[in-house]
Amino acid sequence: ENLFTIESVKALVKDYPDFPKDGILFKDIFPIFQNHRALDCLLNHMADEAITFSKKLNGSKIDAVVGLDARGFLFGPTLALKLEAKFVPIRKRGKLPGILVSASYEKEYGVDIVEIQADSINQGDNVLIVDDLLATGGTCRAAEDLIKKLGANVVLNQFVIELCELNGRDILEAPIHSVIKY
Ligand code: PRP
Ligand code: MG
Repeated sequence: ENLFTIESVKALVKDYPDFPKDGILFKDIFPIFQNHRALDCLLNHMADEAITFSKKLNGSKIDAVVGLDARGFLFGPTLALKLEAKFVPIRKRGKLPGILVSASYEKEYGVDIVEIQADSINQGDNVLIVDDLLATGGTCRAAEDLIKKLGANVVLNQFVIELCELNGRDILEAPIHSVIKY
């Protein structure tokens, strides 16, 4: 039996002040991965939330879990298995082969580009986006744009951590679920 709760998972997230630079308080999720019961608790919680959400989709299911490069890849494939959906990566520019669709977003210093393989998602697919962190929302908003370009629907954006004061949720179009809020 797993006695871990989301509260005890949250306690494992470690703060690193002034990383990667002054004034930034970095939230390190990797201590969660050092305890398999904590990881199991977190992933089950996320899957339960997604399944509960998908039951509101009028009988249709989540077809694809899209994970965001790089730390979204830590959660996406496991969630996809639990939801019996496919897993698809969105990657930073230049990493994926084949025919791609791309979207740009504002980073602190200029513009960045993310890409998805054009044949990885079908028109009309119901898509769950997953990432470790919602900060300004720019990364996830670009992912929403890519999925829209492919004619699919983002039904839920899921995050392990949300930094609420950055108001990232205001620029996202689809519903949002975050496990841990600061
Ligand atoms: C981090 C984090 C999110 C993103 C959130 O990724 O993993 O993907 O920033 O920020 P935003 O909401 O302001 O867009 P980052 O590209 O820094 O690193 P990673 O490759 O380790 O995921
Ligand atoms: Mg990231």
